[in-house]
Amino acid sequence: MDGDARVPFHLRGNYAPVPDEATLTELKVEGAIPPALTGVYLRNGPNPSRAPSPHWFVGDGMLHGVRLENGRAAWYRNRHQRTRVFAGEERNRALMDRAMTTANTHIVRHAGRFFALEEGAFPFEVTGELESVGPHDFAGKLTTAFTAHPKICPDTGEMHAFGYGFMPPFLTYHVIDRDGRLTKSVEIPMSASVMAHDFGMTRNHVIFMDLPITFDFDLAMRGRFPYVWNDAHGARLGVLPRGGDADQIRWADIDPCYVFHPANAYEEDGAIVMDVARYPSLWRGRAEEFDSASRLHRWRIDLNTMATREEPLDDLVTEFPRIDDRRAGLKNRITFAAGAVNRGIGEAEHFDRVVRFDRQTGERAVKTFGENTMASEFAFAAGGPGEGEGWLMGFVYDGSSGTSDLVILEADTLAETARVKLPRRVPQGFHGDWFAD
Ligand SMILES: [Fe+2]
Repeated sequence: MDGDARVPFHLRGNYAPVPDEATLTELKVEGAIPPALTGVYLRNGPNPSRAPSPHWFVGDGMLHGVRLENGRAAWYRNRHQRTRVFAGEERNRALMDRAMTTANTHIVRHAGRFFALEEGAFPFEVTGELESVGPHDFAGKLTTAFTAHPKICPDTGEMHAFGYGFMPPFLTYHVIDRDGRLTKSVEIPMSASVMAHDFGMTRNHVIFMDLPITFDFDLAMRGRFPYVWNDAHGARLGVLPRGGDADQIRWADIDPCYVFHPANAYEEDGAIVMDVARYPSLWRGRAEEFDSASRLHRWRIDLNTMATREEPLDDLVTEFPRIDDRRAGLKNRITFAAGAVNRGIGEAEHFDRVVRFDRQTGERAVKTFGENTMASEFAFAAGGPGEGEGWLMGFVYDGSSGTSDLVILEADTLAETARVKLPRRVPQGFHGDWFAD
């Protein structure tokens, strides 16, 4: 199928699904896996199982996991999440059945449970061995969808999250305490249903992104991806005290844009600073292809006046920004991201590098993986007490061999530490993380 322009990008090359599930041991390793890395790297992504999916975002979720222990790679596994969507159950469009999920976007661990997340539905619990448990609605307290990008506060252990829907309530903020109890849900007044993929969290505030990609009823009726760019909808950021109520939200206008992913948000000198991967516009008319590229960008919101200053941070095409999550909500020095060669309109960006930004020195380091390779998000694994002390890891696909490796880099130099050689490929996916034992 490679190179056939009639096949959508998300079904071609390494975006195409794999047909089977495997459990592999006796994995070949190049370099030396640090013994301190004992745990599992899990990566989620779409892997349409029955029919070609109409959009990259809607295929059945599949997890890929690599278990590392005491300097060796114990296993690789890939498993579909056993959701009702995967089982072939028809979605009843008249019912907002939040247990119907592809569970295909991200994987987080909170209060001892692993959740595979997809923003249209409830979390879907899985195990660290990639086995499915089932939908999780926090003992019946969750009544909306749940973002794939909740934020876990490194100080309090709370998980802050939200859900959005195409019917009211359009946006609902949720707080889950460190023991996994949903303690607060707050409906945020919104004028329309916007695609809210992610949000920001500082020590004291959460920040919602009300951006001009809005629900389009006609597209939905035609079975198309129902969110597209809307010039009539403004762009603003909603700042709410953590755990606050709807009447405490304050809004700050910004230049129109779309953002899937912030890198981090924090407070400094009476302002909120939020660094994001920003698209100047996206999905004009149709959402099936990416018609622009994202770059790192900074919003600074004055907490007294709600005036906003914006500045581009870098000219490289980057997405999937990540930090050392011990700095989540605090001023961070280091940001990591997947980098791409911008091939222009109508192609998915070809991520083939990892970039490390040092905000203190202004230095930018780039690690490329060679001809005919594809990389994606790299997650941080802590190895020492300081910010960014540790490793990065992610899958890199080699188009020449048709196989993928789990590549481990030193986070401070981007030098390669080790790679776990897989005899098969891991499709391009969305998000993952390292979960230490
Ligand atoms: Fe995401």
